[in-house]
Amino acid sequence: MKAEFAERMNALGTETAFEVLAHARQLEAQGRDIVHLEIGEPDFSTPAHITEAAIRALHDGYTHYTPAAGLPEARAAVAEYVSRTRGIPVTPEQAILVPGSKNILLFAALSLVNPGDEVLYPDPGYPIYGSVAGFVGARLRPIRLREENDFRIDLDEFRALLTPRTRLVILNSPHNPCGSILERADVEAIAEAVLKTNAYVLSDEIYSRIQYEGTHFSILSVPGMQERTILMDGLSKAYAMTGWRLGFGVMPPPLVEKMAKLMINSSSCAAGFTQMAAIAALRGPQNSVNEMVNEFRARRELIVRELNQTHGVNCRMPKGAFYAFANVSAFDADVKLLSTRLLEEGGVACLPGTAFGEGGRGYLRFSYANSQEKIREGMHRVREALALHELAV
Ligand SMILES: Cc1ncc(COP(=O)(O)O)c(C=O)c1O
Repeated sequence: MKAEFAERMNALGTETAFEVLAHARQLEAQGRDIVHLEIGEPDFSTPAHITEAAIRALHDGYTHYTPAAGLPEARAAVAEYVSRTRGIPVTPEQAILVPGSKNILLFAALSLVNPGDEVLYPDPGYPIYGSVAGFVGARLRPIRLREENDFRIDLDEFRALLTPRTRLVILNSPHNPCGSILERADVEAIAEAVLKTNAYVLSDEIYSRIQYEGTHFSILSVPGMQERTILMDGLSKAYAMTGWRLGFGVMPPPLVEKMAKLMINSSSCAAGFTQMAAIAALRGPQNSVNEMVNEFRARRELIVRELNQTHGVNCRMPKGAFYAFANVSAFDADVKLLSTRLLEEGGVACLPGTAFGEGGRGYLRFSYANSQEKIREGMHRVREALALHELAV
């Protein structure tokens, strides 16, 4: 029997990082040596005091279902953390814990967006934004980010994209894949425009702790925005906990109730012992975050220097996250083809910019969540492989 699937599946996209990783693993299984610069996860270990809190919680019996929105103590820890880091009062009723911050995005789209509503999101941008918006039947309205504007949102273009049908505006700062940040003035201007509409903002701040210049400023901190902002954040990047699957959101309590209902209809709850680990992470010592960011800073300088020393490659210094978004438009090749060749012939895995939308044409994304030694080796391989390619004239 030929399998037939529901139509909605046609609208669902994917994350190329996982596909490239699978391809790279396949080559490794054949004995090839690959330098991994594709996947977006810190290569550091979860800090020991967090792991110990989880082990303790397992022994203490946190092995059962918890309330759908999370353990009261974990919701309180999230509220305190967001109050502290965003400088605003947040109550536990505004907080929800979910198995990975991605769920906040899906649940926000399911709770707020009707078919035909417009959803704005950055392009290039995290591919799941457009995927999930398409899945719920939204009209996709990409906000183009351009290198000449430092990959920030052009405010005039942004205002022109807002319409009475705009239901959700997705922001991401620090930004994947561009490494750009929204300055406080950008955020305030965006908020001012949004406040004139009926739109909600989903602010993906998963990289908020990994910023090298300036201080992170959340749209949640702008007066009037708490009632219509969904903060999406989590443990994955700041505490090197990608595999633990724990994220959180802060939003108006009626929306928390909708998300809790979606949790009841899907995962039931995030695992209790991971929530106990989250309490240790959010309330405990933060020096491991600073140490990780310092190492990322050194790698950032290394990779950008190496990329800019590569003939035909140009790369701006990212201000946050751990990605270098390199301009390779000088090469006479489609970036998908270029990245496949880099992997298959050069032994270095990276992502084509087009995996992040049309705006990524002419770019390759290199994750620098790998050791300085591996980055040096990877860049050496990139240089050798690209030397075989024609530059466009
Ligand atoms: C911009 C962005 N948002 C969200 C996520 C997902 O994070 P989580 O592990 O909390 O689901 C990622 C992971 O790569 C990301 O890059």
